[in-house]
Amino acid sequence: MDDKTARERAELSGKLTNVLDARTLAGSHRRLAEIVRPGMTVLDVGCGTGSITRGIAEATGPSGSVLGVDSNAKLIEKARRAHGGTPGLAFEEGDAYELAYEERFDIVTSARLLVWLSDPLRALKRMTAAAKRGGRVVIADYNHVKIKWGTKPPASMLAFYDAYLQWRSDAGLDNAIADRLPALFERAGLARVAVTPQHEETRRGDPDFAVRIAIWADTASSRGPQMAKDGYVTEREYKTAEDEYREWIRSDADSLTMYMLAVEGVKER
Ligand SMILES: C[S@@+](CC[C@H](N)C(=O)[O-])C[C@H]1O[C@@H](n2cnc3c(N)ncnc32)[C@H](O)[C@@H]1O
Repeated sequence: MDDKTARERAELSGKLTNVLDARTLAGSHRRLAEIVRPGMTVLDVGCGTGSITRGIAEATGPSGSVLGVDSNAKLIEKARRAHGGTPGLAFEEGDAYELAYEERFDIVTSARLLVWLSDPLRALKRMTAAAKRGGRVVIADYNHVKIKWGTKPPASMLAFYDAYLQWRSDAGLDNAIADRLPALFERAGLARVAVTPQHEETRRGDPDFAVRIAIWADTASSRGPQMAKDGYVTEREYKTAEDEYREWIRSDADSLTMYMLAVEGVKER
């Protein structure tokens, strides 16, 4: 898959940008939240609408400096409008494959980005180049194969989910990237690689349960049309999956666990 097609696959619709807006450093990039310190310089690649990036800038404080980069110009505009006034924070349009920074940042990070790239090692090498010697690369990403629902979702959604994984995998995207990150870190030349489980669990009774578990209904409605054009589902199938899943959220759903790891490594040389 060429880079342009990969980028189109990663494009986000309105509903999914709401999901990004709801994310926070403390809740959605937990390992990074533990290690970021005042005064640090941090690069956040694939920053989306910048909610997590803003949290990073609040943690590094006015003596630090944080740059969010994303290939989607509209998201960068949105990030600037929402968070541009935060001291020490800037946003730039840019491609993870083309990062031109050399030895500039204490921490280079991404969350939920590599799962959308057909050549994650190439991006990881550019991210490693951007870290200072002694600096760290910290990546949080999913293994979508290891998703777990508590009660069983409707068959229409399970069929949609299988088609979604197939559509992604045929496009050259790695559904299990989280578990491959340690090996990729070694290949990028990073040392002292450490893995922290950071699974995302939501249970009925949590204040944001209905919004968070709905991610797959939102995915059916936002990715469904492209998947239908590509021949992986019909319009009727993705719409039924969305409707039945939303009904299931109201009635039987009890929990969802999205498997996520945070992997970090140090640039020693
Ligand atoms: C699922 S979103 C994650 C956003 C944010 N990091 C978060 O965790 O909420 C993935 C982001 O990666 C961006 N992206 C995809 N391909 C990219 C590339 N080649 N270079 C930079 N950003 C890219 C998308 O535009 C999108 O904003």
